[in-house]
Amino acid sequence: MKFKALIVKEIDGKFIREISTKSIDELPESDVLIKVKYSSLNYKDALSATGNKGVTRKYPHTPGIDAAGIVEKSSSNQFNEGDEVLVTGYDLGMNTSGGFAEFIRVPAEWIVKLPEGLSLKESMMLGTAGFTAGLSVYKLEKAGIDKSGEIIVTGATGGVGSLSVALLSKLGYKVIASTRKQDKEDYLKKLGAKLIIDSDELDDKSSKSILSRRWKGAVDTVGGNILSTVLKSLDNGYSVASCGNVLSPELNMTVYPFILRGVNLLGINSAETQMDLRRIIWQKLAGEWKLNELDEITTECTLEQLDEKIDLILDGKITGRILVNLETSFRY
Ligand SMILES: NC(=O)c1ccc[n+]([C@@H]2O[C@H](COP(=O)([O-])OP(=O)(O)OC[C@H]3O[C@@H](n4cnc5c(N)ncnc54)[C@H](OP(=O)(O)O)[C@@H]3O)[C@@H](O)[C@H]2O)c1
Repeated sequence: MKFKALIVKEIDGKFIREISTKSIDELPESDVLIKVKYSSLNYKDALSATGNKGVTRKYPHTPGIDAAGIVEKSSSNQFNEGDEVLVTGYDLGMNTSGGFAEFIRVPAEWIVKLPEGLSLKESMMLGTAGFTAGLSVYKLEKAGIDKSGEIIVTGATGGVGSLSVALLSKLGYKVIASTRKQDKEDYLKKLGAKLIIDSDELDDKSSKSILSRRWKGAVDTVGGNILSTVLKSLDNGYSVASCGNVLSPELNMTVYPFILRGVNLLGINSAETQMDLRRIIWQKLAGEWKLNELDEITTECTLEQLDEKIDLILDGKITGRILVNLETSFRY
């Protein structure tokens, strides 16, 4: 059987994207064949789609670290034909053919049954970005954040950023959104941000090892000097969940914020999150954490329309989330 997929090919050192067909036999041998209904675009997908060998070693390749759909065939007794399921992370879309296609085939251990309270579409409006925002909030709450002060979210108009702003606001935290896009103030306020600041304000160029105490928690999606500025400005004992590096993977700073203020740097790795915790986060996102702003945050596109979005996300020009609807894609 043939199905449609976005395929990235390496030709003479250049990476070319095209929508083409693949056969089921080309998918890796594995437990569960899933008919993908929705996927979503994450920053990592754009890296895979443009030949980043740290993400994807071998081409031709189909990216897409997220997929939600219906089980078509299963050799695992955990899943039956017709089950609604979702997959985020693990190796999906990295070196395993990913969700930018009508079918994936993956190990049963990677699959989460769609939790009650979420549709397949909503699960991919969230996708890895929503799961990462959820994991960040979960870890921050475990480490101890409170509602007495300000929580900063960096890269706030991005996928993880938007969903972190919306989730923290829903839970009653006073969220300050840091963005380079000052024209997105209304968008961020609708998601619940109390104040929007220019990300330049978090780019401290002084030689100070520690700055005035301000934040009582943070979700950082950008890394680099913005992350170190946030760490230097955390109040005593508070934490930052570090999940991204769109600005830079470097972290040049002293240990003083850690040893003089007892602040914490919480590492977030959504792709490798253990299944028990994965299920807990998805249950929360489907229940007590369910967001009303998903339509506001999401732009839907077809597989064919994904190409231009890949370039835009690499430039940091996407606001919110891109949902990929495999059902409405052009038929061959
Ligand atoms: N650790 C994990 O498990 C995990 C999971 C998901 C994502 N991530 C990482 O988290 C980051 C965000 O992912 P995403 O999918 O949310 O991407 P995204 O939608 O592109 O969001 C990134 C946002 O960061 C800001 N930004 C982009 N380039 C920047 C730059 N050069 N300097 C400063 N800010 C910049 C922009 O927001 P503003 O214009 O509003 O500033 C942009 O919208 C990526 O590094 C991704 O790899 C990690």
